[in-house]
Amino acid sequence: MNASTAPVSGELPREQVERFDHELALVLKRYPPDRKAAAMLPALHLGQEIFGFCSPEVQRLCADRLGTSPARAEEVATFYVMYHTAPIGRHLVEVCTNVSCCLTGGERIFERLKAKLAVKNGGTTADGKITLREVECLGACGTAPAMLVDDEMHERLDERRVEEILGRLA
Ligand code: FES
Repeated sequence: MNASTAPVSGELPREQVERFDHELALVLKRYPPDRKAAAMLPALHLGQEIFGFCSPEVQRLCADRLGTSPARAEEVATFYVMYHTAPIGRHLVEVCTNVSCCLTGGERIFERLKAKLAVKNGGTTADGKITLREVECLGACGTAPAMLVDDEMHERLDERRVEEILGRLA
């Protein structure tokens, strides 16, 4: 057994590790064999998609498969906000409170959502449905206030629209 197929943790389900290895092999076709470590971003994305979040075990798996150190995987996983190093709810609601959104009601929307969902910034509702996060500019300043729900951007928000959007979440 070589290093690229060696198990790195008995804590990760074998079937999911096999899926990860299969899909990572497809990603690595786009990288020179001696530059595998450069695929850390897509490897972590894949790990998050398959295992739910980038736990230390998932970070170690990525590092192992890319022939780099767990510290390198941790650096990347903890630097970018799109990687979750702890479990999150079924839906991720990210509300921008940066300047344009703040001036057009984003901060008020965020405060109301915190109260309605009974969570702090970064918290998850008791039923595990929604994780709420305050974020920096989402690049929609001209159509503020904006929020991202899972991968879908919502702009020109008001409280009624926020209620509608949240009401559609299963
Ligand atoms: S300030 Fe909110 S999207 Fe730019």
